[in-house]
Amino acid sequence: MQIQTAIRVLVALFTQFLWMGPSHSADSALDREAAKQEEVYKSLGENVPAGYVVDRSLLAYVAGLPAGFDRSLADLGPTDRWLDIGAGEGKAILDYYTPRYDAMHPQRRGPKGRAVAISIEDRRTARWHETAKRLDANQITYWSGRRLREYSPEELGRFQLVTDLTGGFSYTRTLTLFMEMVLGALDLDGVFYTLLLDVLPEGAAGPSAYPDSLLLTEIQRPDGASVRVCSWLKSISCVEVRCEAKPDWSPPLEVYRIRKVCNDVVVPGLAPVHFEAGTPPERRFVLK
Ligand SMILES: C[S@@+](CC[C@H](N)C(=O)[O-])C[C@H]1O[C@@H](n2cnc3c(N)ncnc32)[C@H](O)[C@@H]1O
Repeated sequence: MQIQTAIRVLVALFTQFLWMGPSHSADSALDREAAKQEEVYKSLGENVPAGYVVDRSLLAYVAGLPAGFDRSLADLGPTDRWLDIGAGEGKAILDYYTPRYDAMHPQRRGPKGRAVAISIEDRRTARWHETAKRLDANQITYWSGRRLREYSPEELGRFQLVTDLTGGFSYTRTLTLFMEMVLGALDLDGVFYTLLLDVLPEGAAGPSAYPDSLLLTEIQRPDGASVRVCSWLKSISCVEVRCEAKPDWSPPLEVYRIRKVCNDVVVPGLAPVHFEAGTPPERRFVLK
C-alpha cells in the first residue's frame, strides 16, 4: 500500500474512533457487526444470505442505475476503462462482451473498452475464466482480497466510467474516503453511476415522514438535523451531481450520476457513528 493511501486509511480510522468515543462497549459492538459483515462476504453456496445478490446482469445494471449509464458504456473505446466496484461475480462485465450486447447496440463499432471488477471476496465463476481466456490479455481483470480504499492510485489507474450497484458505496463505513478514491480514479469528464436503497431522497420531507421505514444510510449534522445523501454529494467540489428517486422500486431507491468536472476534489468529511451488518448494512454518519 502506498504511504498516502495508508495515511488516509489511518486518518479515517482515527476519526472514526474519535466519534465512537472511548467507550469499550461501542468498540466491541462495532467489532461484532464488522465480524458479522465479514461472514456475509465470505458466505458460500446455501449460506449466502438471500439479500446478498452477487449475479446481477448488465440489463439489471441498466435498469437500476441512472439513465445515461447504457450510453456511457456503449461510448467506451479501446483505450477507455470501466471500473465496477463491488462486482460480485462480475456478470455485468461479462454481458458487455457478448454478441447479444452487440446486437442490442448496433451503433457500437470496433474494439470495446477494458473492464476491471473489484470485489472483497473472489466470486469469479467458470464463465468469468472462460471469457477472460477468450478475450485479449487485460481486457477484463478481477481484483479481490481488498477493499477499494486499500488500492493505491497507481494500482487503480484512471477510468472513464465507474459503477457501483450495491457495492462499496452501500457497504463501506468510510464513505468520505470511498468517494475520494472513486473521484481520484475518475478521469476528467468521467462519470460514476451508483445508487442507494432505503435512503431519504433529495425532495423528501424529513425522517418523521417515514416513521415505519428503515433508513439504511443516514447523514446527520452534529445537532441531529438530517442531511440528504444527495445534498452531501452535491457539496463535493468539482463534481456535477444528479439525483433521482425511484420510490416505486422495492425497496425504494435513489440513484446518482456524478460527473467529475475539475481536479480539485474536496469531499466533506463524514464520521461513522452507527453500523449494523446487513445486506446492505445500516449506516449512520455525522457531518464533521
Ligand atoms: C451485494 S454484492 C453486489 C454484486 C454486484 N454489484 C451485483 O449487483 O450483482 C456486494 C459486492 O460489493 C463488494 N464490496 C463491498 N464493500 C466493498 C468495498 N469497500 N470495496 C470493494 N468491494 C466492496 C463485495 O465484495 C461484493 O462483491
